[in-house]
Amino acid sequence: TPPVPAPSGRVLLAAPRGYCAGVERAVAAVERALEKYGPPVYVRKQIVHNTHVIRTLERKGAVFVEETDDVPEGGTVLFSAHGVAPEVHEQAAARRLTAIDATCPLVTKVHREALRFAEEGYDILLIGHEGHEEVIGTMGEAPDRVQLVDGPDAVDGVCVRDERRVVWLSQTTLSVDETMETVERLRERFPALVSPPSDDICYATQNRQLAVRQLAADCELVIVVGSRNSSNSARLAEVALQAGAAASYLVDSAQEAREEWLRGVSTVGVTSGASVPDVLVDELLVWLAGRGYADVGIVTATEERQRFALPRELARS
Ligand code: F3S
Repeated sequence: TPPVPAPSGRVLLAAPRGYCAGVERAVAAVERALEKYGPPVYVRKQIVHNTHVIRTLERKGAVFVEETDDVPEGGTVLFSAHGVAPEVHEQAAARRLTAIDATCPLVTKVHREALRFAEEGYDILLIGHEGHEEVIGTMGEAPDRVQLVDGPDAVDGVCVRDERRVVWLSQTTLSVDETMETVERLRERFPALVSPPSDDICYATQNRQLAVRQLAADCELVIVVGSRNSSNSARLAEVALQAGAAASYLVDSAQEAREEWLRGVSTVGVTSGASVPDVLVDELLVWLAGRGYADVGIVTATEERQRFALPRELARS
């Protein structure tokens, strides 16, 4: 039988996609710490939520642990990009660890807001996903002042001390639209609700959502590269569907992509979360090209120039 002709499909690649400035800095911090102190360098939790990044750093000598208790006394430990509660800094000091904080500066900004509003006597309604490390860290700044609001349906259960002093803050990696829906529901209950002084959902999350939204309506399928525990990556797959893609899937790498997704598809959208190295997207593009989707166009929503300096302890002199 003659070979089946390959479909001539098209790929739309979202820009921006992949690494944000906070991830770039956190991964570079681990690499630099390995150079400066030599292995092993301990990292509390996944430095960023990406399986490939973790495996790569492990091969270079990073040891990922759950808690500072798992680090030998006197060792060096890095805190992940998602941030930690103040008590984690105290635990590290008690074990005489050299602690290097790779918390993204945009997460630190939310911590400061939480602290300030708590000092001013506000009840803080933190919109975010239950159990996510960033939320645990931010709540730790003022545990008796912050309550988590995990989406619009959680609004009815909120209970505050003084309806005139209520502020909302959010996790940095949420869906912009869903967060606004939650805020509207909160405002119906608490008309005096104060908004954060500037966006808590970070520029990288917003830009990646903007880009995938622009291409989704032209795609029968959107493939998002990102790990399942990566909040911003998972949101990209949801936003793609809301913006009109017929189907969207989150894959850790090209190995998880499936031929049957391509049936009847002429245009495939591709993007990646803020913790995803380019090489993983390149592999997916090769996989797609091998199946007839070789024509790649880039859909650019905006340019990014944000950079963050390494943590002080690791700055090159
Ligand atoms: Fe920071 Fe946003 Fe990246 S909070 S780590 S810049 S996804």
